[in-house]
Amino acid sequence: MSTSPAAEAARRRTFAIISHPDAGKTTLTENLLLAGGAIRAAGQVRARGENRRTRSDWMKIERERGISVSASVMTFDHAGLMFNLLDTPGHEDFSEDTYRTLTAADAAVMVLDAAKGIEPQTLKLFEVCRLRDIPIVTFINKMDREAQDPFALLDEIAGKLALDPAPLYWPAGSGGRFKGMMDLRRKRFLPFAKKTEKDEGHPAAVAANSNAIVTYLDPDEQAELEEGAMLVQEASKPFDPQAFLEGHMTPVFFGSALRKFGVEELLEGLGAYAPPPKAVAATKGGADTHVAPGDSEVTGFVFKVQANMDPNHRDRIAFLRLCSGDFTRGMKLKVQNTGRQLSVNAPIMFFASDRELAEEAFAGDVIGIPNHGVLRVGDSLSESGTLRFAGLPNFAPEILQRVRVKDPLKAKHLKKALEGLAEEGVTQLFRPQLGADFIVGAVGPLQFEVMADRLANEYALDVVFEPSPYAEARWLTGAKADIDAFIDTHKTAMADDIDDQPVYLAKTAWDINYAAERHPKLAFERTKERG
Ligand code: G4P
Repeated sequence: MSTSPAAEAARRRTFAIISHPDAGKTTLTENLLLAGGAIRAAGQVRARGENRRTRSDWMKIERERGISVSASVMTFDHAGLMFNLLDTPGHEDFSEDTYRTLTAADAAVMVLDAAKGIEPQTLKLFEVCRLRDIPIVTFINKMDREAQDPFALLDEIAGKLALDPAPLYWPAGSGGRFKGMMDLRRKRFLPFAKKTEKDEGHPAAVAANSNAIVTYLDPDEQAELEEGAMLVQEASKPFDPQAFLEGHMTPVFFGSALRKFGVEELLEGLGAYAPPPKAVAATKGGADTHVAPGDSEVTGFVFKVQANMDPNHRDRIAFLRLCSGDFTRGMKLKVQNTGRQLSVNAPIMFFASDRELAEEAFAGDVIGIPNHGVLRVGDSLSESGTLRFAGLPNFAPEILQRVRVKDPLKAKHLKKALEGLAEEGVTQLFRPQLGADFIVGAVGPLQFEVMADRLANEYALDVVFEPSPYAEARWLTGAKADIDAFIDTHKTAMADDIDDQPVYLAKTAWDINYAAERHPKLAFERTKERG
């Protein structure tokens, strides 16, 4: 096997699954890993999750709400390809974490519940994918339950997502009448077996025009399937891989994740059509450039930091998405904005059933780097230390609250803890220039609960959140003299963020417009990229 960075990158498929809670993401993840040969028995993903939960107190909140707040990555080797499946948090709140995880994915699988179609969270996550030009593969799940008319589901995709659906399969019935599906490309019928005692899998595919099909379908069902398959092919555009890569078209798969039906077909489709890592825009020494996966310099960016995975150790794992080069264990990498050099001696790869030291990794792979707070979300790492990837912004928070610790003697302690969480990217921290308050900002309300839980469990801090007078935060950019002049006249509304950058805290959106009109030389930014 070739190990040139370009050839290795070409066999990577790094993808995320997006869905509304309960559509079947966990079940599909598990059965994709099973189909990919990464785990031997179904149940391991859930079991592993539970294991992790008992070890990590802060995950109590996940357990109580039955949601998954944290994201991780699972790697498996299948059919000559290396799949990296990024787990996006599935809760109702859109968080920065979700967005950032999607920045590390080259494709996404959108799971729809066949009875429900596109649900609010699916739509929100889809919009993030579109923002990042991530191609989407659609998996219509739970066909073993009573489903909506498949034509209506395709119409919904076209109407709500402005995406051309191109079905590669076509289902025969649903629920109790679900008999299987037609493989529209290869003209085969894939029979679905009703649950047997042993759950031994499904019968082998038969040619669509063979007599064997009568074993599985009665004449009416056969006629209905043939008519549906013909109609849908007439009505929809044929699958065009280029249109898919450009984000105009989505190949549509059907199945039942729970009954392991259609999952191998989805995996095969991902292998065949999902893109390998592509060149990424960056700057090198200030000049614009592109980093190609086959470039010899090892480069990557941190898209997630998870602290206190083990409460006995105050270590953090930074998740680095590699963008180029041949990474080997022990390599020295430099952090672009701080110039610090790291010897990456214990990088971790997350295989489905285990964590292993990563001896070698390539573009598209995600490695976990244990560290004590040196690495932050958005950091660019490279051998030269001069490369910087754009596009991992902080978002202006939508909710700003004042945080206070009940025991006033612990104020110093609170500051450290809040800084730790802000460095991890869980929430944002603003220190008003006047007064001793801490203002924390988040994109969704759940982040405050996670924060309170973690402050209590990991830092033994009992905190209360109180409403703050502020509704909006904007980063100020412009010439230093202009910024200083603005700060001087708006002291009561100014704060510093974790990187000591000036932030204007406003009570209303109107205040921001007013300030922006009066200070045209300044920009009031909704996002900030660390530099
Ligand atoms: P999520 O991660 O997207 O939130 O969904 P998850 O996989 O946990 O699935 C949600 C529920 O839907 C689960 O049932 C799961 O068993 C069921 N499910 C997933 N895929 C299919 C499918 O293809 N067919 C059918 N019939 N059901 C499916 P639950 O009762 O909530 O949980 P459990 O007790 O089965 O674990």
